[in-house]
Amino acid sequence: MNLKAGSGDREHTETSSVYPPSEEPGRQNYFIEKCREHVSALAVSRGRSLTFHITTLGCQMNAKDSEKLKGILLQIGYRWTDSEDADFVLYNTCTVRENANLKVYGHLGYLQSLKKKQPDKIIALCGCMMQEADVPEKIRKNYRLVDIVFGTYNIYKLAEILWERFFTGKPVVEIWDDAGQIVEELPSYREFPFKSGVNITYGCDNFCSYCIVPYVRGRERSRKPEHILAEVQKLADEGVVEIMLLGQNVNSYGKNLPTPVTFADLLRRVERVDGIRRIRFMTPHPKDFSEEVLAVMRDSEKICHQIHLPLQSGSTRILKKMNRRYTKEQYLALVDTIREYLPDASISTDIIVGFPGETEEDFEETLDVVRQVRYDAAYTFLYSKRSGTPAAKMEQVPEAVAGERFGRLLDTIHENQADAIRKNLGRTLDVLVEKENDVHGYLTGRLENNTLVHFPGDTGLIGKIVPVKLTQEKGFYYFGETVS
Ligand code: SAH
Ligand code: SF4
Ligand code: F3S
Repeated sequence: MNLKAGSGDREHTETSSVYPPSEEPGRQNYFIEKCREHVSALAVSRGRSLTFHITTLGCQMNAKDSEKLKGILLQIGYRWTDSEDADFVLYNTCTVRENANLKVYGHLGYLQSLKKKQPDKIIALCGCMMQEADVPEKIRKNYRLVDIVFGTYNIYKLAEILWERFFTGKPVVEIWDDAGQIVEELPSYREFPFKSGVNITYGCDNFCSYCIVPYVRGRERSRKPEHILAEVQKLADEGVVEIMLLGQNVNSYGKNLPTPVTFADLLRRVERVDGIRRIRFMTPHPKDFSEEVLAVMRDSEKICHQIHLPLQSGSTRILKKMNRRYTKEQYLALVDTIREYLPDASISTDIIVGFPGETEEDFEETLDVVRQVRYDAAYTFLYSKRSGTPAAKMEQVPEAVAGERFGRLLDTIHENQADAIRKNLGRTLDVLVEKENDVHGYLTGRLENNTLVHFPGDTGLIGKIVPVKLTQEKGFYYFGETVS
């Protein structure tokens, strides 16, 4: 196929030239236009619009990537549909735990059966799982009806890859080994009109010994503060009131920029964007959490007093094997400092149960931290062996032992969570209204600490921040009523 890059003096934004421009984002805009013409011709011949569906697995990074993919597909002229009967079906995969992979393989069988009935259907896979060494090959061999496979580093090239599929009629597999440039200014579609994630870093340099993310997302890259601020300003201009700054380790933001910037500096600058009323961030790493960030949070009108502080294990011995680079005592001291600066902060966490070599004593240390911190919420995971990571070669804990510990951990967390939720019962707090509830006449929104609140109200309030009196607690969420 002829996809020669154009000469350097060609106008980058030109879309009707014979050769694609070499520079981004002009090059992708060129392919968006080519695909658009093709999709529009297909729509005429089929007598209907073409549709697409994206399934997103995994974390907020993938959710944000899917918004970018959706933006490109809408621009190409596909229409969104909730059904997998769509003409273009895309799976944005996760591989952080093995069951995420199993889910995808399980589903591919079903998609292939759909394709037998709809031969023109395009099946595409992208995301973290595709970056694993043996996965694209396994898919090529065992799932021959898959049309497109790409990875995490080239999602911005969706239009170019799709064009190649249209042009050649053959499967396209394009996986990069590491990140190229960060391409800004491509279309993106927001799931919510009033809140949005904003990437600040990509990748991770921490290499926690159990974790596959650094291998599938590459080394840490920070976006330039000007680019982040321009995006936040644009979002504010479009009516967004809440943003979540996204990265695998947000508080190491900016260290590798040509002119280094700290996460605290970035927060201060984001705070100054008019129109934004709530700022969140995810995920900070305990080893890099500076007091300066806490001071900025204390003095801020907008940064939510909500901190997700992954513990992973409460045992210093296991933390060392995990390569987390903090001890139980350092973690607890950080929680004390957080509470000094922000007495009302809600703190949530991630915990892994059954990491290789975890003994009953190690696990008791985890329960001890859970009891001391009294988390508002905790996400718990059974350790999952990821090949290629150092922990995969360590001695594994029997499944039954890990399962039993997991149950005990959940019980302890639920006791704490119930206490935490009772704290705010009867108070009137601000709620950002997100959507209509399934129960007629009710709305659903979130407190600053991210807890869900359901209350009677008019749909005109969606996207607004309103005071709500919390009248009943239900363990994980509240019922409330608006106050005037
Ligand atoms: N960068 C974030 C988390 C990214 S992955 C951080 O460091 O906190 C999200 C969560 O998945 C992790 O916090 C961890 O608890 C869990 N996780 C990662 N690898 C895992 C594995 N191999 N088995 C089980 N849980 C895992
Ligand atoms: Fe994985 Fe650790 Fe990086 Fe989080 S900080 S993404 S757990 S390696
Ligand atoms: Fe999964 Fe990739 Fe996120 S592995 S957790 S989707 S960074």
